[in-house]
Amino acid sequence: MSSNRILVVDDDSSLRSVMKMQLEEAGYQVTLASDGAEAYDLLREIRPQLVISDLKMPTGGLELLRLISAEEIPPTLIIITAFGTVETAVQAMKMGAYDYVTKPLDFEALVLVVNRAMERQALLEEVRQLRSALDQRYGFESIIGRAKSFLRVLDQAARVAQHDTTVLIHGETGTGKELLARAIHHNSRRRNKPFVTINCGAIPRDLVEAELFGYTRGAFTGAYASRPGRIEQADDGTLFLDEIGELPLEAQVKLLRVLQQGEISRIGSTETTRVNVRVLAATHRNLQAMIEDDAFREDLYYRLAVVPLFLPPLRERKEDIPELVEYLFQKATERHGISGVRLTESIMPHLVAYRWPGNVRELENVLERLLVLSSHKSIGEDDLPEEIRRVQPDVSSFRLDLPDEGISLESVERELILRALERFKGNQTHAAKYLDISRRTLIYRMEKYGLTQDE
Ligand SMILES: Nc1ncnc2c1ncn2[C@@H]1O[C@H](COP(=O)(O)OP(=O)(O)OP(=O)(O)O)[C@@H](O)[C@H]1O
Ligand SMILES: [Mg+2]
Repeated sequence: MSSNRILVVDDDSSLRSVMKMQLEEAGYQVTLASDGAEAYDLLREIRPQLVISDLKMPTGGLELLRLISAEEIPPTLIIITAFGTVETAVQAMKMGAYDYVTKPLDFEALVLVVNRAMERQALLEEVRQLRSALDQRYGFESIIGRAKSFLRVLDQAARVAQHDTTVLIHGETGTGKELLARAIHHNSRRRNKPFVTINCGAIPRDLVEAELFGYTRGAFTGAYASRPGRIEQADDGTLFLDEIGELPLEAQVKLLRVLQQGEISRIGSTETTRVNVRVLAATHRNLQAMIEDDAFREDLYYRLAVVPLFLPPLRERKEDIPELVEYLFQKATERHGISGVRLTESIMPHLVAYRWPGNVRELENVLERLLVLSSHKSIGEDDLPEEIRRVQPDVSSFRLDLPDEGISLESVERELILRALERFKGNQTHAAKYLDISRRTLIYRMEKYGLTQDE
């Protein structure tokens, strides 16, 4: 089935046919509907990737919008606003419309918007398929995220899981390094064998070796009995070396030897035992830089980083925040056996805008705190910690005071573009990224509003 189907909904029949002509010329397959009801039937029938609809129709523009967004796989929606009514467009965007175009239609601009919307829809579809394959085949349901950068890592993890490859997981604190390591183990042939963790940063330096390699009785003061180390405990299973960057250099040398020879000897013993472990390691440090400072051994690094994975920080995959919020809040209510407390929508823009230096772990902690400390049933903006309440949400930071006499949508858009350009000192690439439009669209709109670079 081709994936370039567009449904155009407008009660103006001449406009409909011109749009059909223009869009077909641009390579799309176009079906027309004259009102919301007809559109809804066609929606089911042709399953378009994109719907372009006027909202001011005799029968149900906004109703159509509501129905569309309730679809399991909703098409992308572009709104046509007739009278430059900001409220309708704003409302439409809030309900999930992707973009709007204003009448009288500028067809060149329309095609640009449509191209971009189609690219996005294709990406969403790709992401959806990958996500569901990962869930079905690897049981990754408890790992939330659909950002492309994140799914790529999950996909790589799923691929290496079955092999005994050594994996080095990079990621800032709280990005899910341990969660990913466990997922790899559970998708490996070793899933029924032990998963043993050692946090190299949490153990006093002089005890690390005893912990890793074990010791014999009398090997050092306090060694009253012989004890196996973590490596031996992980035999046949997976050893997760967390915060590997904190491992002292001497221990690095010994670890490398174990990995190379597949043999271990406890401290105080000359006897060696064969061990069969699959090693996963994680770090929030830049090991390459540590190698240059002679703080990490290069040979060990290459031994560990056979497959390096990079978990993106949460602020670089903000689109995942709403789903994570829902999932983690739900998890917290179950853990604490609290029911009937809910989050209000007003807090979401703040949660999305905040930078989350502690990533998912910080988000999890914040939600848990909100839940446990809440004295009422619904948690709102005022309950948020100061640093999160303070951040200006992306959308509402553009304060829009609607004058009584009406305001044209175009003037608002022009103003937004100006401000974005100002903010990035005229850098169009950055401004376009900030506005979430392509650079071409930005340039196009700048021309449309007669904005020159100097302004
Ligand atoms: N994508 C995700 N989906 C669901 N839960 C997640 C996700 N990422 C992280 N978490 C949760 O966030 C918390 C922190 O994750 P994890 O311990 O794996 O991170 P980490 O990178 O090892 O952090 P640290 O550097 O603090 O050790 C855990 O409770 C984990 O279950
Ligand atoms: Mg961790």
